[in-house]
Amino acid sequence: MSQKIRKVVFPVGGLGTRFLPATKSMPKEMLPVVDKPLIHYAFEEAQAAGIEQFIFVTGRNKHPINDHFDHAFELQNVLSGRNKQDELHRTSDWLPPAGSVSFVRQQEPLGLGHAVWCARHIIGNEPFAVILADDMVLADKPCLQQMVEAYATVPGSNILGVMDIPPQDTGSYGIIDIENKDNAGSQLVKAKGLVEKPAPDKAPSTLSIIGRYILQPEVFDILGSQKPGAGGEIQLTDSINQMTAKHSTYGYRFDGVRYDCGGLVGFVAANVAYALARPEIKGRMVEELEKVYERSGVAQKK
Ligand code: UTP
Repeated sequence: MSQKIRKVVFPVGGLGTRFLPATKSMPKEMLPVVDKPLIHYAFEEAQAAGIEQFIFVTGRNKHPINDHFDHAFELQNVLSGRNKQDELHRTSDWLPPAGSVSFVRQQEPLGLGHAVWCARHIIGNEPFAVILADDMVLADKPCLQQMVEAYATVPGSNILGVMDIPPQDTGSYGIIDIENKDNAGSQLVKAKGLVEKPAPDKAPSTLSIIGRYILQPEVFDILGSQKPGAGGEIQLTDSINQMTAKHSTYGYRFDGVRYDCGGLVGFVAANVAYALARPEIKGRMVEELEKVYERSGVAQKK
């Protein structure tokens, strides 16, 4: 079995109800952060990590994602006719080679675990990555690339992107049960189990799983018979938890800042942070933000 991480799964079959009405007819993953859709950042992160095969697990009303990863001949012809070279490059220069993008349908949004399971035939028998586009990580070295490098030190394991969270927030996340508390502070932390959304007094740690995974293909066998868990959904965390007995599982504390773009506040914060990370608009952004802050009256209240 090849140990190189060549394939990524992007589960994009969710309903995105927290963004209604924006997501009534547009996929959540196509919401823009500055000038690129969420899914485009996820794709770039996968490319930077050396991924060769990009698998999108889609659902109803997700066609704009298919179109985004294709040529837009009409638009490209018009731009070319007008000699708009910059715009032309931004439309299509980044497209991956033909044949490296696949779409598989999750007919019902039964949960993240179910979405990943829908990709089993395309993944086959090799380790693979999963990126949730609505978890953005702003980092010097892209998060998945960091994880692929960490994987090279523990091949054959599962690796989950993790971050430290405030103790009172454990009820909103999947939490890692750390095997050896002496190593609790290291970047690569071995897990003896995972707990989905534990109350703070029941949480085995404050290390929370984010939307970045490197998984062994055996997860598909478990997902295939996985019963619905938290929220009535087939949870990926539950299946990985079952695997920890046989397959070493690690949390990887990535370098960077994670924005939870599955919710309104994280999404707006990401827009501000990513705009401020763009040198060509940073100065004007700061001026505008200062004005907004003043006008809102928040500054005086502080
Ligand atoms: P979320 O938990 O954010 O769910 O999914 P959601 O349906 O997208 O959004 P809300 O809660 O209704 O606002 C995390 C990721 O998993 C995918 C989503 O598309 C998102 O990228 N997902 C979730 C699936 O692909 N299928 C599912 O059945 C559930």
